[in-house]
Amino acid sequence: IKKIAVFTSGGDSPGMNAAIRSVVRTCAFHNIECVGIYRGYEGMIEGDFKPLTARSVKDIINKGGTFLKSARSKAFMTKEGRKKAYDNLVAEQVDALVVIGGDGSFTGALVFNEEFGFPVMGIPGTIDNDIYGTSHTLGYDTALNTVVDCIDKIRDTASSHNRLFFVEVMGRDAGHIALNVGVGAGAEEILIPEEDLGLDRLLESLRRSKQSGKSSSIVVVAEGDKTGKNVFELKDYVEQNMSEYEVRVSVLGHMQRGGSPSCFDRVLASRMGVTAVESLLEGKSNYMVGLIKDEIALTPLEQAVKGKSEIDQELIRVSDIMTT
Ligand code: F6P
Repeated sequence: IKKIAVFTSGGDSPGMNAAIRSVVRTCAFHNIECVGIYRGYEGMIEGDFKPLTARSVKDIINKGGTFLKSARSKAFMTKEGRKKAYDNLVAEQVDALVVIGGDGSFTGALVFNEEFGFPVMGIPGTIDNDIYGTSHTLGYDTALNTVVDCIDKIRDTASSHNRLFFVEVMGRDAGHIALNVGVGAGAEEILIPEEDLGLDRLLESLRRSKQSGKSSSIVVVAEGDKTGKNVFELKDYVEQNMSEYEVRVSVLGHMQRGGSPSCFDRVLASRMGVTAVESLLEGKSNYMVGLIKDEIALTPLEQAVKGKSEIDQELIRVSDIMTT
């Protein structure tokens, strides 16, 4: 392997820049070339490449987002699109790919490898933490801190007005963000897709809170929650069934994806980038670099895509106890 291409794909996450930097510098360390591809698979299809040297990734470890930009590519889902991408990589003399993204991006890499035998290595970058084979995806820790900070602020105004707040957080179909910030910010209830609390239990719990002397409350709702009601409908539902609370809603949205990465994410990105490049140089392909029990470990990309990242059951228990 003489030249590696790196790109970011899917929803961006804090720490992606740090991972690109790590890939580029590890290539430089091993005296091989590195090229960046803009806008993920879209740029691969359009031939939007740029050579990257150790110095060209200075001053980015602390930046949110991804300087290579990101996209969710429809064209790469077609055979024709992938063939164009392959031709561009061959013309650019690229020998292997490092893809930083989530499961959709990894699925694309797997199909590409199957069709053209192109060596690929994945680095999990998403705030959702919904990838099998790693305890932490890049950006997850930063997002948790961002959200906890927001909820702390919401708590200030909630308690000043004796209000109940439903706070919707991201996570797609997973409740990792919601569960962790719920515990970290001391929420009264946490609604996650992995556990169906049920609307009756929600009311019961809110009544209990009120009776126990709480004047304000925060309920964290994962965007993928399965109660069948979104946060605005939940507000209406509670107001219709309980006169005790004045209810407000806050949907945190894309601010959760931005911001300077936490130290944890920067270190993780640096470690993952080194292993991704060195694994390719050792002749490995079709793996995702993850963190398992605090050690960097490889998981077959296919398993990373198909496996389920389980919710922390112990943390659910802790949260139940904390809301007593
Ligand atoms: O996967 C990251 C994520 O932020 C999810 O939490 C959310 O459901 C989705 O992306 C939003 O996607 P978009 O930025 O395309 O609206």
